[in-house]
Amino acid sequence: MLALCMNIISANAQSPSVTDLAPTPPMGWMTWNFFGTNINENIIREMADAMVNNGMVKAGYDHIMIDDGWQGGRDNKNNMIPDPQKFPSGMKALADYVHSKGIKLGIYSDAAQLTCAGYTASLGFEEQDAKTFASWGIDYLKYDYCHAPSDSNTAKIRYKKMADALRNSGRPIVFSICEWGGRQPWFWAANAGGQLWRTTSDIRDSWKSLTHNLDINAELEASAGPGHWNDPDMLVVGLRGSKGPSSHKGGTGCNDIEYQTNMSLWCIMASPLIATNDVRNMDEATKRILLNDEAIAIDQDPLGKQGKRKIADSVWNVFVKPLQNGDYAIAILNRSNATQKSDIDFNSLGLEGKYEIEDVWQHKVIGKKEKKWKGNLQSHETRLFRLKKV
Ligand code: GLA
Repeated sequence: MLALCMNIISANAQSPSVTDLAPTPPMGWMTWNFFGTNINENIIREMADAMVNNGMVKAGYDHIMIDDGWQGGRDNKNNMIPDPQKFPSGMKALADYVHSKGIKLGIYSDAAQLTCAGYTASLGFEEQDAKTFASWGIDYLKYDYCHAPSDSNTAKIRYKKMADALRNSGRPIVFSICEWGGRQPWFWAANAGGQLWRTTSDIRDSWKSLTHNLDINAELEASAGPGHWNDPDMLVVGLRGSKGPSSHKGGTGCNDIEYQTNMSLWCIMASPLIATNDVRNMDEATKRILLNDEAIAIDQDPLGKQGKRKIADSVWNVFVKPLQNGDYAIAILNRSNATQKSDIDFNSLGLEGKYEIEDVWQHKVIGKKEKKWKGNLQSHETRLFRLKKV
């Protein structure tokens, strides 16, 4: 018993601060898919105001991440500076504003000399840039991999270098590794110092892209947990075919059923929930999806388990996610192009006994002592349930 206790203590002692940085999957809003590089400080301030007013901050979306396009090069001491046209008041003032609204501020750089969009990046300046970000009050860094060599060893070295620099910066800064899954970061990114890592290429606003990212991420539940998360990229909910980067490669938009599926599956996979639509102007359907507190509670459950995909065929995908209080979340997706009848026995998913079924999208109990659930799902629909053992 004593030996067991010692083991637990020493395991915890190794990395408490790392787990503390992202005990549950990070949530927020990111500039990229709607604005691309056309960003400025007014947009960020407007987004911060909107996220307070529309309930996003209260629901848990407590970060604003500034993606590529903010950089204005380096000054004569090689300190990174923001583009003075886009961010004339500077990043410290912007961080102070965002913080005053109860929101954390994220920023973006790249493990090479230039970012994906061709702006100044951090290779060779890791310590200096991490200290600069800390001095501005930055809370989160997304670190991309364009213009870097393709081998895994270099990636591990470059990411660790920036992770160490962030740890030495004097400020807790969440580190988001973005090498798109090509070097299987789920095996090494946590050791390199990342709290989350992209598992996929860039998401687009289309069913095809959504399911592409789903199929990669759904196989990786073993590597997710408190302080270390698989990231299948941003939510496309509410983009509705807008003209930003999410419109590339056939990203002409999804319907509400598909956006609801995006939210349901990202929640059952304990994925970071990072919206990227124009949250200043959200229609009711988008709000209903992004602000579903029961879905968010499944994503943010402190046990930190990524749901396991137990059934994966051409029609059905079924996920099961154990929750801290002993409940289970289950998600049932109809991938086909037609309405389908589901008849699912919980026992076949490894869940014994009888359950009360809470329907997360209807916000009501739809069964009291059930061993199974039967019902119709429209094409591309996901039903998300919380099962309580009775
Ligand atoms: C890459 C990333 C995107 C975004 C852009 C910015 O494509 O994967 O998420 O950050 O770069 O240029």
